[in-house]
Amino acid sequence: MSFIWDWINNTRPPLIAPELVSNLRDAKRVVVLTGAGISAESGVPTFREAQTGIWAEYNPEELATPYAFEKNPWRVWEWYTWRREMIEKKDPNDGHYALTEMQRRLLDQNAQFTLITQNIDGLHKMAGSKDVLELHGNIFRSRCTDLDCDEIVEYKDLKPTETPPPRCHKCNGMLRPDVVWFGEALPLDDLHKAMAASQKCDLFFSIGTSTLIQPAASLPIMALDADAVVVEINPIETLITKRVTYPIQGKAGNILPKLVAGTWD
Ligand code: APR
Repeated sequence: MSFIWDWINNTRPPLIAPELVSNLRDAKRVVVLTGAGISAESGVPTFREAQTGIWAEYNPEELATPYAFEKNPWRVWEWYTWRREMIEKKDPNDGHYALTEMQRRLLDQNAQFTLITQNIDGLHKMAGSKDVLELHGNIFRSRCTDLDCDEIVEYKDLKPTETPPPRCHKCNGMLRPDVVWFGEALPLDDLHKAMAASQKCDLFFSIGTSTLIQPAASLPIMALDADAVVVEINPIETLITKRVTYPIQGKAGNILPKLVAGTWD
């Protein structure tokens, strides 16, 4: 019996292909797209996983749309306060830190590196990643709803109010979380940078995202169309798994440190 198990284990392809290590070592333009899955090992819930996903418990239409805020700003503000207080207690995990190290190594060898995230938790920045494109905003910022004002206020600078949402210190307009809700446009500048980088990269990683929400979901497709090598890291199959060059089935916090160590140590 043990002979059979040894044979199975020795013939199974390695989790990280040696060719991928060479691709990463030689890459000139690398793009990484992350989703909720990269923060799952920090204890931040994902969105669409059955049972544990945020949208299994809450209705996005009642909490994450401009209409929901117009109808009940207090409820939406309180829900984001609850999420922010939960995220505040979390730390970056080995996956976030491995991406920080990947950026450092690639910049050292004069390659380009673009980190795009759909996450609003700020954990990439906390892990030391630079120039992160936060396509869906950041839960630690708020923004004035008066379009003529558009003042951005860091949450830590807000004075507590008896009846939230708090008001803008400049124009007294109502403040909202500086995140992108369903039905809203993404920050144009960052979106353009993300698209341009994806269209001309030679190596693209899609990590911890179900690739269901546009326009971020199109970025790996743009990279595939540009003949880039595309890697996916996710414990389960997604819409793009069958199309990518290297589908790696596993957790980001396990795979990424191994990949970075295997490439540069
Ligand atoms: N490592 C890698 N991937 C993981 C891990 C992990 N440890 N744990 C879970 N995943 C994967 C899941 O299998 C799933 O495919 O992360 C993915 C999370 O998918 P979603 O919950 O759909 O999150 P995301 O893709 O980031 O959603 C995009 O939708 O609701 C909006 O604005 C919200 O930014 C969010 C957007």
